[in-house]
Amino acid sequence: MATGELALVSSLFIVVVFLLLGAVAREASALTRHDFPEGFVFGAGSSAFQVEGAAAEDGRKPSIWDTFIHQGYMPDGSNADVSADQYHHYKEDVKLMYDMGLDAYRFSIAWPRLIPDGRGEINPKGLEYYNNLIDELIMHGIQPHVTIYHFDLPQALQDEYGGILSPRFIEDYSAYAEVCFKNFGDRVKHWATFNQPNIEPIGGFDAGDRPPRRCSYPFGTNCTGGDSSTEPYIVAHHLLLAHASAVSIYRQKYQAIQGGQIGITLMVRWHEPYTDKTADAAAAFRMNEFHIGWFLHPLVHGDYPPVMRSRVGVRLPSITASDSEKIRGSFDFIGINHYYVIFVQSIDANEQKLRDYYIDAGVQGEDDKENIQCHSWSLGKVLNHLKLEYGNPPVMIHENGYSDSPDIFGKINYNDDFRSKFLQGYLEALYLSVRNGSNTRGYFVWSMFDTFEFLYGYRLRFGLCGVDFTAAARTRYLKNSARWYSGFLRGGELRPEKPYATL
Ligand SMILES: *[C@@H]1O[C@H](CO)[C@@H](O)[C@H](O)[C@H]1NC(C)=O
Ligand SMILES: *[C@@H]1O[C@H](CO)[C@@H](O)[C@H](O)[C@H]1NC(C)=O
Repeated sequence: MATGELALVSSLFIVVVFLLLGAVAREASALTRHDFPEGFVFGAGSSAFQVEGAAAEDGRKPSIWDTFIHQGYMPDGSNADVSADQYHHYKEDVKLMYDMGLDAYRFSIAWPRLIPDGRGEINPKGLEYYNNLIDELIMHGIQPHVTIYHFDLPQALQDEYGGILSPRFIEDYSAYAEVCFKNFGDRVKHWATFNQPNIEPIGGFDAGDRPPRRCSYPFGTNCTGGDSSTEPYIVAHHLLLAHASAVSIYRQKYQAIQGGQIGITLMVRWHEPYTDKTADAAAAFRMNEFHIGWFLHPLVHGDYPPVMRSRVGVRLPSITASDSEKIRGSFDFIGINHYYVIFVQSIDANEQKLRDYYIDAGVQGEDDKENIQCHSWSLGKVLNHLKLEYGNPPVMIHENGYSDSPDIFGKINYNDDFRSKFLQGYLEALYLSVRNGSNTRGYFVWSMFDTFEFLYGYRLRFGLCGVDFTAAARTRYLKNSARWYSGFLRGGELRPEKPYATL
């Protein structure tokens, strides 16, 4: 052989070896659920208001969301009166979860179904429904992970004393939470006190575009009253105190006997600077403090973040020494809902006389669609942040998912490979974080079914399982992503191109 030929052969040989190595590496890098720590929980979720329907049935009374919707404030005019009708379909739904291989189902209890007036009498039909749902899940080997409050405040409490804006909320919430522990805690081992208490004060009391529609000029529109400069902070304070109170009741009276865990679920967006200017880096830091630290700083360190204290001043309620003691450490895990990263810019808050949460934070860009982006690396940033700033608490990822719009894709859309791809990216990021020391213990896709989405109605569909909202029977159907997730849950490789599980 001439030297030239030898070189060609050997380089061909190298290419072949490379291809083989590549294939081996690819094979090794395809994740399965067994690459996650023992006991890691995989599930999917929903919330009562979004899937139950039966809004006026068996004694349920309105929540502030029923009122909001029926006053005509949903941009698309939709309502949640029937929604996915899980109230009548729970057996079929649990069977679907079982067939898919879910370890756990995250759902919430509707306060206005269990205690229709907000306090006092328990509704026996409400009690029966949640007992049935929980029993059905357990019978199928699926863990119930229960959110006690997911935005659906009984209207009665709003009417009586202004709902969460009043400190009276703390006592009524605590009593309601105790009804849940007492009646369901023998079977429910995973409790979250609140869903997204760092979001409810903004929509309801700053922008006023969600119930109870409070805001003040020049923030938000068409409000019934309110003060965007103070109320969001007061409401968050009450939510924090109500959380600590419920946890203290659980720990003192139920936890030792029932052996469960209790936490709180925050929306955790990640904020990145829009430019490489130091001012924008500072803005991203502040926004993460205002958004995540608002709750996590008190929960871990006993007080609001210093940057909030200095910028909000006396409008930020003080945490007394005894409250601080109650709040600090009042969780066994932190639930996080993570979807996207937002690129933010700094604004000069000192020039503004009228202030709200975002001006206090000195950021802009939060509501600009172009600045809101989905990148799976942001989950890694979030988990790293929790590890470094908050002592690496046990974490449950309570929501992560991707929506499509039936306006674009047709009313029934089985072919949602974009969803499987999205979820795969985040699961791979999660795996890397766990390998790098994150204390994450579970992952729930939002959502198990298409639901009524707060503010978006049925225009956004997140479900692994579709629901035909035009059919009286609310027919369920499996999307490709449900088959894909099922394959992974049963130990298959995490790859969209793999054949789907046969369900
Ligand atoms: C506010 O009210 C005005 C007048 O009733 C109406 O035209 C406008 O659409 C409302 N804005 C929102 C965001 O509801
Ligand atoms: C791994 O964790 C360390 C801190 O514990 C962090 O500095 C590093 O960036 C992390 N690596 C990745 C890839 O997230």
